[in-house]
Amino acid sequence: MSAKTPMAEDSTKSKNMNDLVALCKRRGFIFQSADIYGGLQGVYDYGPLGVELKNNLKAAWWRSVVYERDDVEGLDAAILSNKLVLRYSGHEATFADPMVDCRKCKSRWRADHIKNGRCEKCGSDDLTEARPFNMMFKTTVGPIVDEESYAYLRPETAQGIFTNFRNVLDSTSRRLPFGIAQIGKAFRNEITPRNFIFRVREFEQMELEFFVEPGTDDDWHKKWVEARIDWWKQQGLASDNLVAYHQKADELSHYSKATVDILYRFPHGLEELEGIANRTDFDLGSHSKNQKELNLKAKVMENNDSTAKLTVRDTEANTESVPFVIEPSAGVDRGVLAIITEAYTEETLENGNKRIVLKIKPHLAPIKVAVIPLARNNEALVSKAESIKKTLQALGLGRILLENTGNIGKAYRRHDEVGTPICITVDFETMTESENKIAGEETVTVRYRDTMKQERIAVSKLADYVRKFFNV
Ligand code: GAP
Repeated sequence: MSAKTPMAEDSTKSKNMNDLVALCKRRGFIFQSADIYGGLQGVYDYGPLGVELKNNLKAAWWRSVVYERDDVEGLDAAILSNKLVLRYSGHEATFADPMVDCRKCKSRWRADHIKNGRCEKCGSDDLTEARPFNMMFKTTVGPIVDEESYAYLRPETAQGIFTNFRNVLDSTSRRLPFGIAQIGKAFRNEITPRNFIFRVREFEQMELEFFVEPGTDDDWHKKWVEARIDWWKQQGLASDNLVAYHQKADELSHYSKATVDILYRFPHGLEELEGIANRTDFDLGSHSKNQKELNLKAKVMENNDSTAKLTVRDTEANTESVPFVIEPSAGVDRGVLAIITEAYTEETLENGNKRIVLKIKPHLAPIKVAVIPLARNNEALVSKAESIKKTLQALGLGRILLENTGNIGKAYRRHDEVGTPICITVDFETMTESENKIAGEETVTVRYRDTMKQERIAVSKLADYVRKFFNV
């Protein structure tokens, strides 16, 4: 056991949001957007490591939901949304949170976030009655600004899936049950964004709309709840920190017959990470019905029946029905926050020093391997490190970093903090004849993030070794 062997995880210390925010800024995961101008509330930017983590999480979702199944297609629909889509989806009328004003300090709050009936800022209980505040961002489209020239930034990615249902069905010849998956930005003008990237105004969703025969929807709902909880566990979230919450009737969205939220134990409490709703035939039904009405108004359709577009025809039974839909909808940003929360660990080393380590799953790690020449000005070491980096980069695992800062201790500390699973050090023994040469071969030191153990590996075996480590 070396003097630096970790002795104990400081498990009594619950994860603190301030520690996470500080790490994210210090190491380049997440920054307040436009911070040189004082920021924009509820809007964040992802830095060099944040974008890698986020992309890895999205890729893991896409792999599991699209590639590893045979019943799901992908889609990337537009963010700018025709107002009629959001009118007929019910969002114009109902996508609102209850808002109250504090008469004393003039601040505004979400009524259901107010504690003990008092303003969070000044403590006054002189609050207005709650009134609905629609959370959709409106924007104008085209050079003429009039009452009709507006569109919305989509508040959920789902509607782009519903409006493309016919296109996907016709271009892929799918039959029920099948799904359409999409990852993309959504926008909500939250009354009180808070808790870092947990509740923001611009965020990303990973949504699947899984279309099923009416009557099979309850079974599919159950299956998807189980599948989604399992998936979050595979991303490293502990079972103890995940809870399936069945929404009560008065908590359901306007489109839902039943919703199960997957809650995660974030630093600020147990809160929603993903929602899995049984949206019934609400959306396809509503868009079909309104297609019919719109088309009739425009007198473009002669046959009323054929105007109901978002349906599936059973040619044998000669029937046409609107499918039901099960919707697992996960927030990418909340996923990133959950992963960082779970992985953040403070350890006390045998020598009394502390280390922070992000024990993130290798497939999510922003940097897969750091290759470190022991001396930054030594040409032979640097060029060997460059050649190792090139070889490993070609494996297609993700980012392999050549870390040429010359201070090995600092490099290890930095890579522990950002969750790099392994560091490879090219040292003088790599280049010289020594007892560390394995059967006359050049060797490097491989150091593991979680255990800090080190071993020597032959350079010629590195690619295979790393491939095995990352399970590819
Ligand atoms: N299409 C269904 C839908 O949008 P939702 O429960 O409103 O359902 C789904 O949102 C997921 O999107 C949530 O579970 C959460 O992870 C994420 N999400 C929603 N609002 C968010 C916000 N303001 N900031 C960050 N993530 C948010």
